[in-house]
Amino acid sequence: MTKVSLHPSFAKSALVTTTTVVGTRNEDGTANYTAIAWAAPCNGSPFRLCVSMNAGHLGTENILREKTFTVNVGNVEMMKEVNRTGTISGRKESKEGLFETVWKENGAPAADNLPVNVQCKLVDKLDQPANTLLVGEVTGLDVDEECTAGRNIDLALVNPLLFSFGKCNGAGPMYASLGKAEGIAWAQDPAEKLKEKQT
Ligand SMILES: Cc1cc2nc3c(=O)[nH]c(=O)nc-3n(C[C@H](O)[C@H](O)[C@H](O)COP(=O)(O)O)c2cc1C
Repeated sequence: MTKVSLHPSFAKSALVTTTTVVGTRNEDGTANYTAIAWAAPCNGSPFRLCVSMNAGHLGTENILREKTFTVNVGNVEMMKEVNRTGTISGRKESKEGLFETVWKENGAPAADNLPVNVQCKLVDKLDQPANTLLVGEVTGLDVDEECTAGRNIDLALVNPLLFSFGKCNGAGPMYASLGKAEGIAWAQDPAEKLKEKQT
């Protein structure tokens, strides 16, 4: 296989993430929603998430002032609304009406019609040249009952809206759905273990 060198910034195209919507409280007490694809777990215990947000976003300013936010998992069914939160700034137009807003115990707004709402308390930040990595400790997790399996989340039921700057069959940046499970992680033979579980 021959490898070609691409511009380093296209490394982002190799990574697939979940499109999340970060909910924040505006100064006037209304809700703002910001699409964030660069959200990732960053500490096991206590469980912490990190969102990488451009310093100029209204959502970033809100988090730094209020020290609280929610991370709401976008699903395929709500692609249009989720996408909208990423195409316009709350500085220009209110995005509150895109979702049914529920104010959580942490003082931040959550999109009730997205299946997973994660409450975070800002505990750390790391400034990068363009973005700020905002570390949130997870203080609460609410999941639509029909998207759970036992005490866990079943992603086939959540139907998360995946995102990448990369192309899929020539078209992108892409939104995509999950597809099917291929194995059980950490098993000695992941594919075999999945077959066992499915029979
Ligand atoms: C699919 C998608 C993913 C995005 N991911 C990020 C991200 O990870 N970090 C970021 O800073 N902006 C991201 N954006 C851009 C912001 O959502 C966008 O600039 C938004 O208008 C900022 O809104 P705000 O000023 O109301 O916070 C994304 C946009 C889209 C459509």
